[in-house]
Amino acid sequence: MIRIVCGKTEQEASVAAANVMADVIKSKSNAVIGLATGSSPINMYKELIRMYEAGEISFKNVKSVNLDEYVGLAPDHDQSYAYFMNENLFKSVDIDKANTNLPSGLAEAECKRYDAVIESMGGVDIQLLGIGNNGHIGFNEPDTHFPKTTSLVELTDSTIDANSRFFASRELVPTKAISMGIGQIMKADKILLVAFGKGKSEILEKAFFGPVTPEVPASVLQFFKGEVVVCADEAALSVIKEKHPEAI
Ligand code: GLP
Repeated sequence: MIRIVCGKTEQEASVAAANVMADVIKSKSNAVIGLATGSSPINMYKELIRMYEAGEISFKNVKSVNLDEYVGLAPDHDQSYAYFMNENLFKSVDIDKANTNLPSGLAEAECKRYDAVIESMGGVDIQLLGIGNNGHIGFNEPDTHFPKTTSLVELTDSTIDANSRFFASRELVPTKAISMGIGQIMKADKILLVAFGKGKSEILEKAFFGPVTPEVPASVLQFFKGEVVVCADEAALSVIKEKHPEAI
């Protein structure tokens, strides 16, 4: 079941998303949370930090697994996802760093280890996702199949273009990444997807109302067994609103 939460602004939708995540943590203090990077979750993480500082939630016994990491970037590289997570969430809350997990961006033969890490969690309670302009989730790019487990991914030109805004030049963007598989994402108990801005409006409509196809990896979420909560702003939902007004 897909539940769309429309915020007037990115901030309003991010607060709604933080509440969905916080409810899981409040109901299960040792929750396993699947985390994501990109610009979309940043305000949601800020709100979670606010909640932590206000004493509303604690990450003390929470475990986390991240979706993905660039190949070739060490955790202390300022564009690595390990660095991102530390800067945007981990360093500001009481999570035990030993309970946080990301694929290592340095080892290409990392997939099996990360599969074992995910398996050892005994199930992810809530998986946070952003969505790429081409419909990727994690770094699962458009393909002929849905990857089941962690895999080494060749990034598409469109993803390299999109992510080059964070690097000094396009040449510096890694061309490969390690990503949790779609099969693993689909095993979570709940999915929380955040998307903002007009640029995401076409792909959100395709993902949730178009055919389910590995060419639009996020479309697989239409087959998710539990609840998919989509927290987005009006701009990102504009095409859905126009074509499927009943959905919002
Ligand atoms: C990256 C990440 C994805 C993320 C996507 C969208 O490529 N691997 O996990 O969802 O970009 O990013 P943004 O939220 O910045 O639009």
